[in-house]
Amino acid sequence: MKTATKVALALSVSACASTLAYAQMKPEDAIRARQSVMRVIALNFGPIAQMAQGKMPWNKDMFVANALRIEAIWAMQPTRFFVPGSDHPVAGAKIASFTDVRPEVWSQADKWKAAAGRMDEAVAGLAKAARGADEAAMKAAAGALGKSCGGCHDDFRKK
Ligand code: HEC
Repeated sequence: MKTATKVALALSVSACASTLAYAQMKPEDAIRARQSVMRVIALNFGPIAQMAQGKMPWNKDMFVANALRIEAIWAMQPTRFFVPGSDHPVAGAKIASFTDVRPEVWSQADKWKAAAGRMDEAVAGLAKAARGADEAAMKAAAGALGKSCGGCHDDFRKK
């Protein structure tokens, strides 16, 4: 087998394996994964939101670094971690398990997908503003991103 073929094969096998791994993930692991991703995104978004609101001085380097990290972390597609059976805390799980998810994630799947799609767009907008390193674009993109977080939380996260 040619090396290129071997590499392509190895890549496609590992891609399948990781898709399977998400589907078979234990509910408590999935809950922890999505909450961790959300938290890391929030940690990166915090200073950007503050800059956009004028509560922190414009810091181009911080904006670019944080925005590009948000892009990379959202690219993990955390909606995959909303696996069936992860709509309630898992009794007796090894790791503490609580969840604020609402069952509408599964019962209103189209609406959920649309909310995730709006986040895709908002993250792309933020990354574009970061690549231009532009303060005005940052403000608009940060506002749009904040709306997409809040919009999804309103419908799919318990208060
Ligand atoms: C597509 C829907 C969706 C979008 C978009 C979204 N979230 Fe969430 N988020 C959720 C859901 C659902 C939960 C509850 C998860 C759980 O408790 O299992 C959550 C939980 C969280 C949590 C709490 C995590 C924890 O440890 O309990 C934080 C913080 C958070 N989101 C921040 C954000 C920020 C910041 C954004 C935007 C930059 C965002 N989210 C965008 C759906 C979304």
